[in-house]
Amino acid sequence: MAVRDAASLLVGLLVLFHAWGVWADVEVNMEDRVEAYLGEEARINCMFTSAEGVGALRIHWFFVTRSGEKKQIYYLESTMKYADRGTQFTDRVNGTISPGTAVLTISDVHIEDEVEFICHIKSLTEGREGRTKLTVFDAPAFPSIEGIQTGISVNEVNPSKIGTCEVKNGFPKPNITWYRNNTPLRPAQDEVEITLSVTVESSGLFSVRSELRMKVTKEDKDDQFYCEVTYFVPGGTRMTETNRINITVYYPSTAVSVWVESPKGKIKEGDSIMLQCRGNGNTPSSFLSFKHGEEELPSEQDTLVLHNATRLDSGVYLCISTDTDTFEEIAGNTTLFVHYLDPAVVIPEDTIVPQGQDLKATCNALSSVDTHTAWFKDGEEISKGNTLIVKDATFDTAGTYECVVTVPEIEGMETRGTLYVNVQGQPEIIKPDNTEMVQQVETTVSLHCKVRGFPAPRVEWTTADGKVLDETSREVTDEGVQSTVDVKVTSDITVFCNATNDFGTDALTFDIKATTHTTAATTTAETTTTITTTTTSPASTTTISSTTVKPKTVNPPKKKVKKESSGGVIIAVIIICILLLAILGSVLYFLYKKGKICGRSGKQDLTKEKSNKDNIVVEMKSDNTEEAVLLGVNGEKQPPNDQ
Ligand SMILES: *[C@@H]1O[C@H](CO)[C@@H](O)[C@H](O)[C@H]1NC(C)=O
Ligand SMILES: *[C@@H]1O[C@H](CO)[C@@H](O)[C@H](O)[C@H]1NC(C)=O
Ligand SMILES: *[C@@H]1O[C@H](CO)[C@@H](O)[C@H](O)[C@H]1NC(C)=O
Ligand SMILES: *[C@@H]1O[C@H](CO)[C@@H](O)[C@H](O)[C@H]1NC(C)=O
Ligand SMILES: *[C@@H]1O[C@H](CO)[C@@H](O)[C@H](O)[C@H]1NC(C)=O
Ligand SMILES: *[C@@H]1O[C@H](CO)[C@@H](O)[C@H](O)[C@H]1NC(C)=O
Repeated sequence: MAVRDAASLLVGLLVLFHAWGVWADVEVNMEDRVEAYLGEEARINCMFTSAEGVGALRIHWFFVTRSGEKKQIYYLESTMKYADRGTQFTDRVNGTISPGTAVLTISDVHIEDEVEFICHIKSLTEGREGRTKLTVFDAPAFPSIEGIQTGISVNEVNPSKIGTCEVKNGFPKPNITWYRNNTPLRPAQDEVEITLSVTVESSGLFSVRSELRMKVTKEDKDDQFYCEVTYFVPGGTRMTETNRINITVYYPSTAVSVWVESPKGKIKEGDSIMLQCRGNGNTPSSFLSFKHGEEELPSEQDTLVLHNATRLDSGVYLCISTDTDTFEEIAGNTTLFVHYLDPAVVIPEDTIVPQGQDLKATCNALSSVDTHTAWFKDGEEISKGNTLIVKDATFDTAGTYECVVTVPEIEGMETRGTLYVNVQGQPEIIKPDNTEMVQQVETTVSLHCKVRGFPAPRVEWTTADGKVLDETSREVTDEGVQSTVDVKVTSDITVFCNATNDFGTDALTFDIKATTHTTAATTTAETTTTITTTTTSPASTTTISSTTVKPKTVNPPKKKVKKESSGGVIIAVIIICILLLAILGSVLYFLYKKGKICGRSGKQDLTKEKSNKDNIVVEMKSDNTEEAVLLGVNGEKQPPNDQ
C-alpha cells in the first residue's frame, strides 16, 4: 500500500514535471534493421533512456503480422518475463534487460522471421515504442553453367541458345549476370535475350535460372561465356562466378583453296596425283566437289586422287564448297601440268652402211620438257645429242645401238630406242691363233671360221684334195658368220675355209699334221686310212679304235716301250719277210730291179717319225702359195657353191 501511495505520488510529480516540460520520461531508439543468417541467432536490441530505474519499466515485444496487426511475442519486467504462447517465436525467444538496453534474442532464425519487430517500453507515466526489421540471409550453393553442345550456325535468323546458368537455395533472391569475355551482357533487341526464372523452394529459398540466347557471328567462335552470381550477406554483397564455356560456331567458307599434295615438284605421266581442298569455313552442311573443266570428278571428302595421270589430266582443277543450307557456292582452283615423254623414234631403225661411208641416225622423243639424248653401244656411251654420226664405217661399226632419252629435271622419265647397223663389205676372216696344228691320228678336230662381212657370207669348207666338208654349225652374228666344221684326222690334211658374199671372198687355210708313235703302226694306219676315206665310214671307225688304243698306252715310256710291245709283231714280220725272202730268194736274185720297193717304204717311215717330233710347224708355212691357190680356185668353184 505504501508503495502504491508512493508510486501515485511519483506519477503526480512526473506529470507535474512533464507539464513543465523539463524532460520526457522514456525514450526508445532502435536500428533500422537487424540482420541474421538463416538458422543462426538474431539479436534485436532496444535502446532506451528513462528517468526511472529499470525496475519501474515494463517491456512488450511485438511483431507485425502479414495482415498488419501487432502481436505480442514477449513480455518482460523486473520481476517476471515470458514468451507469449502460440506464436512462431514461442520456443525460440528470450528477453533480457540491462540499463539502457533490452535485448530480444531469436534462435534458429527462420525465413518467416523476416518481419517487423516492435519494442514497447512503459514507464509509470507513459509508454514509448521503437521498431526494426529483421532481415534473414542464406548464401546460395555454388552456381552451375551448361553450354549448348551442338554447334551454332551464323546463318540462324533468331538468337540461338548459348547456355543456362543456375544458382540454388539463396536468400534473398540472388542475381545472375551473363558475361562474354569479361563484359557483362545486357539484353538487346533481336541480339541478346536473357530469360530468368525464379523458383521458391518449399524451404522458402530462391533458386534462379537464367538462359542466354544470342545471335552468333564467326568472331564468337573463340568467345568464353560465364555467369556471375551476386547475393546479399549480412553487411554487404558477395559474388561468385561459374566456370567458362565456349561454343562451336559454324560459319560458311568465304574462300576455298585447292593444291597438289603429292607429288611435290613436277608431275609426269603415270604418277598418282593427290589434290587436297580446304575451305576456311566449318559448316557441316557444306560439302566439297572437284571439277576438271566441265567434268565432275569423284572425290573422297577433301581429297581427289588421279591415278596414272596422263597429259590429258593437265589443266585447271576447281574445288567447290557448297552450303546445303544456303546453296551458296564458293570455288578455289589450281592448275596442274602433267609432263610427258613419248617413245623414242629412231630413224632409220635398221641400216646397212657400205664400208668406208658414214653412218647417220637420229633419235627423237616428243616431250613437254627439255630432254637429254645419248647413244650407247655395248653399254658404253659413244655420243651425246639426238644425231648419231659415225664416220668411215668399218666392221667394228656394225652392231646394236641404243639411244636413251632422259629428262634431267624429272627423275624416272626415260625412253629408249634401238638402231641395228650392218656394214656392207667383203668377207674378212678373223685369223685364229693356230691354223697349223699337230693332231693324233683318228682324233676329231673342230675348226672355227669367224667371218665378218655383210651380207652374211657363205662359208665353204674344202680339203686340199677338193673334198667338200659339211658345216657342223653356222651362226649369224651382228658382224657376220661363225662357222664350224669337225674334221677327223687320218693323215696330214689341209682344210680351207672359204667365205664369200656379193662383195668378195676371203679364205683361211688350216694345216693339220697327223701323228702316230711307231713306224710299224703308222705304216698300217696310213694305209688303212687312205683306204677307208674312199670306202665306208663304219669300217674306218673300227680300224681307228684298234690303232688308237695302242699309242695311248704306249705314250709315257716312248721308244723303249714301243720296241717291247711291238717286238712280237716285228719278229713275226721279220720271220715272214725271211720266209718270203727265202721262198722268193731265187726270184729276187733274178730280178734285182724290183727289190727296191721294200726299201723305199721303210725309209719314208723313219723320216716321218723324226719330223713329227721337231719340224712340223716349220714345214707347212707357205702363205703365199695358199693365197695364190685360193684366187685361182675362186673363179672356178663359185657356181657349185650356190647349192
Ligand atoms: C534467457 O537468457 C538468460 C540469460 O542469458 C538465461 O539465463 C535463460 O536461461 C534464457 N531463457 C531461455 C528460455 O532461453
Ligand atoms: C539484383 O538486381 C536487382 C535489380 O537490379 C537489384 O535491385 C538488387 O540489388 C540486385 N541484388 C544484388 C544482390 O545485387
Ligand atoms: C573451348 O576452348 C578450349 C580451349 O580454348 C578448347 O580446348 C575446347 O575445344 C573448346 N571447346 C569448344 C566446344 O569449342
Ligand atoms: C597407265 O596408263 C597407260 C596409258 O593409258 C597404260 O598403258 C598403263 O597400263 C596404265 N598403268 C596403270 C598402272 O594403270
Ligand atoms: C582461279 O582462281 C583465280 C584467283 O585465285 C581467279 O582469278 C581465276 O578466275 C580462277 N580461275 C577459274 C578458272 O576459276
Ligand atoms: C678355197 O681357197 C683356197 C685357197 O685360196 C683355194 O685353194 C681353194 O680352191 C678354194 N676353194 C674353193 C671351193 O673355192
